[in-house]
Amino acid sequence: MMDKISRNLIYLTGFMGSGKSTLGPILANTLGFSFVDVDKEIIRIVGRPITDIFSDFGEQYFRDIEHTLLREVSTRVQTVIALGGGSVTFERNMTLIRTTGTLIYLRTDEEQLFKRLSRKNDRPLLRTADRSITEADQLRQTIKSLITAREQFYSQADITISTGGKRIGMTVDELVTLLKPYLKL
Ligand code: S3P
Repeated sequence: MMDKISRNLIYLTGFMGSGKSTLGPILANTLGFSFVDVDKEIIRIVGRPITDIFSDFGEQYFRDIEHTLLREVSTRVQTVIALGGGSVTFERNMTLIRTTGTLIYLRTDEEQLFKRLSRKNDRPLLRTADRSITEADQLRQTIKSLITAREQFYSQADITISTGGKRIGMTVDELVTLLKPYLKL
């Protein structure tokens, strides 16, 4: 297998709404790398939105496609890969990621995630089930508990960067500097 540093593979993780799909193409462009968004590839391959895939085929089906796709993209070189926010919580994915590339965690505070995600309806794991409390409170609680459960996986990243309160170009510049020891440019 080609050594990790010569591959120049960068994985972006972080909670839903942390900006992986927005920042990823800009980072890739800055480095002259390709960009792949795993969720978008899944939507393209299955031909259905993620909410439909979860509701019609179940989460396990989604996770299996996600893993299969990750196996494929992990063989690429010079590529920035935006992962779905749940990918790193599965050991089979984390093993692939760790052995083939550099993992970046985009850390975003809960209030900011709440603001971004309350305008969206495309995340099956955040859909309201319990009608006894308001949707806003429910969303806040779901975000909080999912982050708490996932922090142990996100914190295994090689590089962690906070995305809140600064322009995206600034985050990209900081990342390019932080990435230097991990890449062969
Ligand atoms: C998920 C995050 C989503 C998508 C799916 C599951 C998760 O991706 O993969 O809805 O488990 O956190 P984003 O992080 O791009 O929203």
